[in-house]
Amino acid sequence: MCASQIPDPHDPWVGANPEDPAHHDNPVPGWTQLREQAPVHLTPLGAWRLSRHADCARLLRETPCGMRLEDGSHPAEGPEIENGPGRFMLEVDPPRHTRLRKLVAKAFTPRAIEAWRPRATELVDELLDQAVARGAMDVVADLALPVPSILICEMLGIPSDDREQFTQWTAHATHLLVAHTAAPEVVERGRIAAMNLAGYFEARVAERRGDLSDDLLSRLIRAEEEGDQLSPEELLVQAIGLLIAGFETTIGLIANGIRQLILHPEQLERLREDPGLAASATDECLRFDGPIPVTRRFLHVDAEFGDFVIPKDSQIFAYLGAANRDPEVFDNPTSFDVGRSPNPHLAFGGGAHFCLGSHLARMEGQEALTGFARRIETSRLVETKIEWGQSLFRVPGTLPIQFS
Ligand code: HEM
Repeated sequence: MCASQIPDPHDPWVGANPEDPAHHDNPVPGWTQLREQAPVHLTPLGAWRLSRHADCARLLRETPCGMRLEDGSHPAEGPEIENGPGRFMLEVDPPRHTRLRKLVAKAFTPRAIEAWRPRATELVDELLDQAVARGAMDVVADLALPVPSILICEMLGIPSDDREQFTQWTAHATHLLVAHTAAPEVVERGRIAAMNLAGYFEARVAERRGDLSDDLLSRLIRAEEEGDQLSPEELLVQAIGLLIAGFETTIGLIANGIRQLILHPEQLERLREDPGLAASATDECLRFDGPIPVTRRFLHVDAEFGDFVIPKDSQIFAYLGAANRDPEVFDNPTSFDVGRSPNPHLAFGGGAHFCLGSHLARMEGQEALTGFARRIETSRLVETKIEWGQSLFRVPGTLPIQFS
């Protein structure tokens, strides 16, 4: 069957209009409505949306699809196909994607990440010492932001003093991940930020080439697979891409996670009493309030989802946040349970583009969340309304709390 959906004329977005600020502030009711009433939904703008866990997982893991059309072109870019080195791995499909991902993954192994855990623990403790001494904290400025930013600087082997500068550049540059749909001024600001990042990294890579060590940048320079290496431009784009993909998202995991722990004091208490729950608590934060609620693909074949055959070349969005609360997969999906197991959430996407930084994100999240539970006995949110940051993702710009 090839059918087009007849939208409810009163609400063609079925309660989940991405442009609606109320939906952005609290997307959960809209996601529920979408999943229950139109789990396979053709939007008024002509893209499709999937919101059931089974459909999202099947799209990402099993259905022939990609970040571009099957011939490598992109509908928003015109007929010429960009095969040059200037693309981050998340923007391209195999075989180009396979090659880039393999080379970067060489420098980014779970073992290399795990070696940084003691430093993450130490850093969280230092930051919380300072906050406790002050008697209050902004969870974003004082913990969620400095943990990934100081750690990535140290991992890359670049001076921590430079981090304020590229913190802002990376927030602005996240919007380039959706450059085809973002407002022109937002794209322009993102491009300027990306140029600044490129200039900055070019200088750091040049320094490093003469003096390779064991840091992440040196590992990326050295990364080699069957005689193949990243070209200088590829290296630059992938290094910046890692920063853009990994930095704001981790701030979101830590800040949203701590917010949920404060809103669920009995769960915070459980984590405090049993630090062995670090891994399941972090994954529950990702499921319940993850920073990236949606990812997208283009179909490379006609594909059946629900009652529809969605035609090849359609743009299709997987609503990871909605899938992560699907009662078909999760018991009591609306309850926040730091001991939840199993927890097959889709917060890191799936298939060929499954988040390459999931080990790093989880390790930082685990250390920050358990550190907070260990050190901060009682706390309360100063504001119940969230002030969002400047990035594309669901990341608060500030989260003041008081110790009481
Ligand atoms: C809580 C933190 C994070 C979340 C929720 C997250 C989530 C995601 C998601 C949803 C995708 C797209 C997957 C898809 O479409 O199937 C992705 C891709 C990616 N992420 Fe993460 N991410 C996080 C942290 C990180 C970190 C710390 C890094 C590295 C420093 C990173 C590097 C990447 C890369 C390189 C890709 C592209 C992979 C590819 O195209 O093969 N991410 N991430």
